[in-house]
Formats: sequence, structure tokens, C-alpha cells
Amino acid sequence: MRKIAIILIAVMREIGLAACGSSEEAGSDSGSAGSSSAAESSAASEGSSAAGGSDVLVVYFSQTGNTKGVAEKIADIEGADIYEIEAAKEYTSEDLNYDDPESRATVEQNDPSARPEIGNEPVSLEGYKKIYIGYPIWWGQEPRIMDTFVESNEFDGITMIPFCTSGSSDIGDSGKNLEKNAGSGNWLDGKRFEGGASEDDVRSWIEGM
Ligand SMILES: Cc1cc2nc3c(=O)[nH]c(=O)nc-3n(C[C@H](O)[C@H](O)[C@H](O)COP(=O)(O)O)c2cc1C
Repeated sequence: MRKIAIILIAVMREIGLAACGSSEEAGSDSGSAGSSSAAESSAASEGSSAAGGSDVLVVYFSQTGNTKGVAEKIADIEGADIYEIEAAKEYTSEDLNYDDPESRATVEQNDPSARPEIGNEPVSLEGYKKIYIGYPIWWGQEPRIMDTFVESNEFDGITMIPFCTSGSSDIGDSGKNLEKNAGSGNWLDGKRFEGGASEDDVRSWIEGM
């Protein structure tokens, strides 16, 4: 584990991941209240079913805006509703510091049973047939709060499509872990994007599915 951690740190440094989480960034990117679409505020604030009138939902967790950017592109292309998972206890830049083995994110990722609490109002999944579920890769895995989300919801009859952003790591087993922990839903293989993925990147993935 220590060796893997050292390699990951080296890879992340190599590709210049210094942008991973200043508190300003975390603050500006994590507030779903400032949603970019009517659908987002509707789905997130009312917890209503298929709130924006679509049967497609994009659910995401994002701390420095990269996954949020991809999520919004998917929502635009699909005409989907969008819902942000927000941590009950906001992640600070110290919490996201992967150079610190004692940082909150690192400690959580080292504990497969960690389930950080979600702070915002839950979204009702009633009426949705397809859900894109997105997150950053943290230490090669999905952030534990994603497990909190999938364990708090039922996905029967819903096609689940994981996507992630990362500095360089692939999506790895994260989609499979979510599928296992969810215990319901028809899960497709996931897709990893660069933080700055273009709309064309996202569109060609969706159209190729
Ligand atoms: C705690 C932590 C661990 C990370 N671990 C990895 C990793 O294992 N591999 C990788 O390529 N990037 C890693 N990253 C970088 C993020 O995956 C990447 O910056 C991502 O695009 C951030 O998404 P966001 O802006 O939506 O939060 C890590 C970042 C943090 C904060």
C-alpha cells in the first residue's frame, strides 16, 4: 500500500496536480445552490422525482470543479436533470491534501468502511431510467462518500453509468465497487475523463454507448 501510495504521489506530482483542492476552489465548486441549470436546483432542492422532466439524471461529487464540468456537459447533451452530492462536513484544502498521510481524504480512502455523511437534501430517483454517476478518483478509488450515496438509494430498473475525472489514473475498479455496494441497478462500464474534457470528448462517449 505504501509503495502504491508513493507511486501515485509521484504520478500526481509529475502531471502537476497542484490544483487539487484549494479551499477557495472547494468552496466555489461544491455549492450546488449555485446550480447551473433550473433542473439542478429543482432536483436538488425539492428532492422530487424526475424534477426537471427528464428521465435521465446526472449525479456527481466534485471538490475542485473537474467532475462538475463533465457532469454539466453530460446534462446539457442529454437534457438531463443534475444533482450534486455535498458532504455534510465540507472538505477543506487540508482535508484534500494527498501529500499528508493523515489528511481526511487519505484516511477515508484507507478505510473501506468509511462513509462520510451527505449534507444536502436527498434526490428522489423515481422516474429516472438512466443515471450518470460521477466523481474524482481519490487514491485510485471512488471517494467514500460515493459509497454513502449508492448505499442510501435503490437503483432497481435504472441503467447506471459511472464516470470520473483524475490526474492520470484510470477508473479502475471504482465503478465495480459502486455496483457491488449499491446492490441494485444495471451498471455499465465507466469512463474516465481528463479534468478539462471538452464537450466533444463527452459527446463522442455518449454517442458511442
Ligand atoms: C485526496 C486525493 C487523491 C487523489 N488521488 C488520485 C489518484 O489516485 N490518481 C489520480 O490520477 N488523481 C488523483 N487525484 C486527483 C483528482 O482525481 C483529480 O484532480 C480530479 O479531476 C479532481 O476532480 P474534482 O475537481 O471534480 O474534485 C487525487 C486528488 C485528491 C484530492
